[in-house]
Amino acid sequence: MADQLLSISGLSAGTEDKPILHDINLSVGAGETHVLMGPNGAGKSTLGHVIMGDASYQVTSGSIVFDGQDVTAQAADRRSLAGIFLSYQAPVEVPGVPLYSFLRTICQMRPELKTSARKFRERIARISDQLDLDESFLTRELNVGFSGGEKKKIEMLQLLLLRPKLAILDETDSGLDVDALAVVSRGIEAYRADCDGALLVITHNTRILERLSVDHAHVMVKGRLVAEGPASLIDEIDAQGFGRFEGAGEKAEA
Ligand SMILES: Nc1ncnc2c1ncn2[C@@H]1O[C@H](COP(=O)(O)OP(=O)(O)OP(=O)(O)O)[C@@H](O)[C@H]1O
Ligand SMILES: [Mg+2]
Repeated sequence: MADQLLSISGLSAGTEDKPILHDINLSVGAGETHVLMGPNGAGKSTLGHVIMGDASYQVTSGSIVFDGQDVTAQAADRRSLAGIFLSYQAPVEVPGVPLYSFLRTICQMRPELKTSARKFRERIARISDQLDLDESFLTRELNVGFSGGEKKKIEMLQLLLLRPKLAILDETDSGLDVDALAVVSRGIEAYRADCDGALLVITHNTRILERLSVDHAHVMVKGRLVAEGPASLIDEIDAQGFGRFEGAGEKAEA
């Protein structure tokens, strides 16, 4: 549909020797919040990486259309410029690059975010404050020696700074203490309120969703989307687990 921000049709993908995703159809409208759930190893992170254009995966059929453009064959940096953001389950460490310079460089590469050094400093200070993030982090090397919770806060900082049209948050809540979880929730809320961006949240932890208004929930089993429904589907899964969907994955596999 033309009014969808993200339209994935008949997408199958995997690594060179292993098919992982099978015939995925998924649409996300501008400003909508979608949740993707599923057992460990179902292929959720893989889908996030394939949408982002991670070169370690190959698309064997189907297409990904983002903001009216077919991005299926586009490199990750082009997709990032087009407005797709992926927060990694395990963020990479980049020794030698201070966080502040990294963020400044990314912003200067984008016409809509390019700004004077003073204004940039002010923006960073405002967002750090919003996230309860000590500004001493900004002079440290990107993600090097950061705790799990600190890395997630830095990702929220990037999210609020870059203002993508679609943010895919993969396990942004994993391993967070209650205070950090609240900061991440605030970051997500601020993104929704300030940027009116769409969200695809991949999670096992429904607590992160409590303060979000979820439009659609999707369930992935064995590389296939086996169910889609309103936010109430999340509560059902919370109460009953994925047992009733396992059969759907098996049947689809046969
Ligand atoms: N680069 C890769 N090389 C080989 N196998 C891979 C690669 N990426 C993913 N896989 C495999 O694909 C399957 C799906 O993995 P994926 O990380 O997408 O699952 P997930 O649904 O995110 O699981 P979890 O809930 O545990 O994070 C797994 O069996 C995984 O080992
Ligand atoms: Mg995962």
